[in-house]
Amino acid sequence: DWTPQSFVEETVANLKNTLGSDRVVLGLSGGVDSSVAAMLLHKAIGKNLYCIFVNNGLLRKNEFQEVLDQYKNMGLNVKGVDASARFLDALAGLNDPEEKRKAIGRVFIEVFDDEAHEISDVKWLAQGTIYPDIIESVSATGGPSATIKSHHNVGGLPDFMKLKIVEPLKALFKDEVRRVGASMDMHADLLGRHPFPGPGLAIRILGDITAEKVRILQEVDAIFIGNLKKWNLYNSVWQAGAILLPVNSVGVMGDERTYEKCVALRAVESTDGMTADWVNLPYEFLQKTSNEIINKVKGVNRVVYDISSKPPATIEWE
Ligand code: XMP
Repeated sequence: DWTPQSFVEETVANLKNTLGSDRVVLGLSGGVDSSVAAMLLHKAIGKNLYCIFVNNGLLRKNEFQEVLDQYKNMGLNVKGVDASARFLDALAGLNDPEEKRKAIGRVFIEVFDDEAHEISDVKWLAQGTIYPDIIESVSATGGPSATIKSHHNVGGLPDFMKLKIVEPLKALFKDEVRRVGASMDMHADLLGRHPFPGPGLAIRILGDITAEKVRILQEVDAIFIGNLKKWNLYNSVWQAGAILLPVNSVGVMGDERTYEKCVALRAVESTDGMTADWVNLPYEFLQKTSNEIINKVKGVNRVVYDISSKPPATIEWE
């Protein structure tokens, strides 16, 4: 007889009890878990919750501003920090996927630690950890907790990691988190968002990252995701995105041969990301989307669709 309403009531009461008038800092990612955790804490302690939303420059097109506005509309006490340049600098010249993940994790921790220091007398770190994260962290391969761990080995504990931890969602599964969010009138757009990896577009640009490659991939991704929404396909897909391949393919423009970028589109059905099937998107959708990408995104002359299932292929390409 678990209901989202009773969960909210009980959790808010418990949080009030535990936290009293203490200050709490929380990192928002734009994803479902951190957003719902923030809403619960907001209900319990209001302005004593200090949210930080970092732009790593590897988010989807316009996502930082749109999501930040959404958070502000929800009444959250949120600070948006645009650290794009810092992340791009740290990524310059890195090709190896794990090196890229580590660099992003390291810079995130630095930025977050700087920001947490701006809040005087903060006592708690809140996290949107859910039950499956706790199981997975045992065998984590690059999730947020794994990046924090590898940082520890290098440089000692950042100050915010010495805070007391509060994790209001740690007993819930994803679908329960969504129901809890809905019962607090959170926007369906926010609750229904596809999962998006912490390192963002960095692991969908195979090889090294440049600002120009990020721009190209953001444009391609925005057309693909926008069309999934237009065709009412977005909600029947578990996760989708575009991958920028590290090859130039030949094309023709008038009498000239061109060598331009090739992108892969990926859309999967899954329940937990551990296994996944590629989605049988309508041919007409693929045709229109491919034409639109090639016509509108300068620098791309070829689009392919990934028809591999997991296992053995993973969802991401690196
Ligand atoms: P794979 O590619 O392993 O992806 O089939 C499974 C799910 O995990 C996400 N993913 C990540 N999430 N940091 C994250 O926060 C990462 O480094 C990372 N790598 C993969 C992926 O988007 C999919 O949902």
